[in-house]
Parts: sequence; structure tokens; C-alpha cells
Amino acid sequence: MAPTPTRDDKFSFGLWTIGYNGTDPFGGPTRPPLDVVHAVEKLAELGAYGLTFHDDDLFPFGSTDAERQKQIDRLKKALDDTGLIVPMVTTNTFSAPVFKDGGVTSNDRDVRRYTIRKILRQLELGVELGAKTFVMWGGREGAEYDSAKNIQAALARYKEAVDFLGDYVLSQGWDIRFAIEPKPNEPRGDILLPTLGHAIAFIDSLEHPELVGLNPEVGHETMAGLNFTSGVAQALYHGKLFHIDLNGQRSIKYDQDLAFGHGDLHNAFALVDLLEHGGANGGPAYDGPRHFDFKPSRTEDENGVWESAKANMETYLLLKERADAFRADPEVQEALEAARVFELEQPTLNEGETIESIKADRSAWEDFNTDAYFGGKGFGFVRLQQLATEHLLGAR
Ligand code: GCO
Ligand code: MN
Ligand code: MN
Repeated sequence: MAPTPTRDDKFSFGLWTIGYNGTDPFGGPTRPPLDVVHAVEKLAELGAYGLTFHDDDLFPFGSTDAERQKQIDRLKKALDDTGLIVPMVTTNTFSAPVFKDGGVTSNDRDVRRYTIRKILRQLELGVELGAKTFVMWGGREGAEYDSAKNIQAALARYKEAVDFLGDYVLSQGWDIRFAIEPKPNEPRGDILLPTLGHAIAFIDSLEHPELVGLNPEVGHETMAGLNFTSGVAQALYHGKLFHIDLNGQRSIKYDQDLAFGHGDLHNAFALVDLLEHGGANGGPAYDGPRHFDFKPSRTEDENGVWESAKANMETYLLLKERADAFRADPEVQEALEAARVFELEQPTLNEGETIESIKADRSAWEDFNTDAYFGGKGFGFVRLQQLATEHLLGAR
């Protein structure tokens, strides 16, 4: 039996995820629209703690101010009634035709100015609703043709926009931070800031780098052929894991947005182990929302939508149980020790080491036996991975 999710697990869902109506490039909707009040009620009932949304998810693009306000009021009432919160908001700068060449990096300056206004509006609403994270996913910030986009100018415009928004947040004293979500491609042929590494380098170039972090997504790094858990570990290393998009992806192909764990289950296990046990002293390395950005498959009816939402949370909790058991197993601890995993935490240089002292250390060169590594001194990593597999499969 899978554990039952509770608010303390901090599970959140995008309104666009459970609200996905099945449209893909080859076919229209297979499900009717999902009302926000119903979505909030169902999520609360299933044990989630948060709902996130793009402006256009709540009030369609082009809504009048009155229509927009009506939807905000309905959402607020549903939140009050259920106790659900809005931990993150984001802006849709990719669906409407005006964004066909991107938002903050469109070649068209008028579009760029309009985009900043749209983002500001959603940022202010997010602050009003108590959101602590503002995600920036630049799905249309990119190109199909090399000569069509001056990448260096585009990055300068990206920086200009993020710096401007950061100045505003600081001037207002708001408690909200930005999280950039990388993706290699889709919908653009190539998207700017395609991977976590690109985004980390970009953040370093900003005026207020402390205000800007990452929102890594399982599927996106996987689409780039990268190891998601390893990327998240680097985000943690730089203090940049501000938010996370959990879902499932099977290899390098279109963005599948499967339920969490319905892709690379081994990597999902390693990810949950990292998030829950990767901190100092073995505690959680990340205490933010466990946010699911998935699409209930278009084969499903509404019942299947909620089954899919549950599947994300239950798989996370099952993997957490499995990771707890893995860490608590004395044989795993012994295998970690034998694989010298803990030895990597020890600095390579002695305290106060100098070039002279390392040169004087015969054990580091003259007496060091490199031959011993041929046919000997195996690390035992495979045994460790098999122990992880046994725990993952519930065999221990
Ligand atoms: C995608 C992205 C989006 C973003 C969302 C938040 O590939 O479509 O993952 O779902 O996460 O737009 O800004
Ligand atoms: Mn995605
Ligand atoms: Mn996402």
C-alpha cells in the first residue's frame, strides 16, 4: 500500500497540469475544461498543499479586468475554504501569437515591453497571494535559425528583464525569488538557457544573483541527455535549488511530462534520496515544494486525471520510504564505506598544505603505487547500485 499524502509533504501541482485537456500537435482536446474551484477542492482532498498557475490558466489571455478579478476572487475563496496555498506563480509568455518569437527576447522591442508588463502583473498577483517563488520558463525564448537570432543580444535582453524585475522586488521589499526553468528545445527549435549549467552561468551575470535560482524539471534535463539527479545536485551545490518540477520522461524525445517515476525509476529513486537525505548530517537537502509538472495522458478521463495526480504523490512517498530503508541498512552503510563514498568529503590537501609540503610528501608520488590499481583496488560501485536496486524493488 502506498502512503497517504499529507500537507506536510508539501506537494503542489500546476493548474495547467491537472487542467491539461489532452490537446497535442496531432489532435484537439479529449477532456472538458477543469474549473479552478473544483481543482483546488480535489487537490486539497488528495492531500496536496499547493496550487501554482500561469496568469492565462486562471483567466484566459485577453480577459477584461472584471473577468480577471472574478477568477482571482473565486480562487481566493477556494483557497480560504480548503487551506490550500499558492507557493509559486509564473507567467504565460509563450502561447499567444504575440509571443511567436519569444517574450523578453523577441526581436520585436514592442513585444519585449509588453512582455515585461505581463510579467509585472502576474508578479504582483503572486505577491498578493503569498507566493514565494516566481518561475520563469522561456519556452519561446529561442530560435529555429541561426541567422535569425543574435544570441548575445538576446541574453543581454534576458538579463535586462531579470535585473529590472529583481530591482522591483528589492525596492518593494517583497519576499519572493525568481527561479529560471531550463529546457533544451520545444516549442522552439533551440531554447536559450537550455540546461541547468547554462542557467547557472547566466545567473552569475545578473545584478542580483542572490534573488535568482533554478526550477529544474526532470523531463527537460533528460531531453538533453543529462542525468537529472546529478544536475539537481549541482544546483544544490551552488545554493540555487529554489523550486523543482517533478515528472517522468523516457529518454531523449519530445517533452513527455509523464507522472513522476514513470520514466527513469532508478534516477527518481536517487533524486528522492538526494532531496530527502542529501543535506548536511543526512537531513533534507531541499525543503521547498515538491511540485509536479506533468500531463495526465490524453487517454484518461477525469477519474484518470486524479489517479495520475495521486500517482505522482504516492510514487514520491514510496521512493522516500525506499530511500529511508536504503540509508538505514547497515549493509548499505558498509558498502558506501567500502566504495569510499565518504572519503570524497575529505579535503585533498592537508590543512595549510603548500606546494613545498605536497612535493615533500613521498606517499603522493615517489612511493605511490599506481600499479596496484591494475587488477586491484576495485571500488565496488556495482554492488552499491544493486543494493539500491534491491531496496527500490522492495527486496530488502
Ligand atoms: C513545459 C514547461 C512548463 C513550465 C511552466 C512554468 O515544458 O511546458 O515545463 O510546463 O514548467 O510553463 O512556467
Ligand atoms: Mn516540461
Ligand atoms: Mn516545467
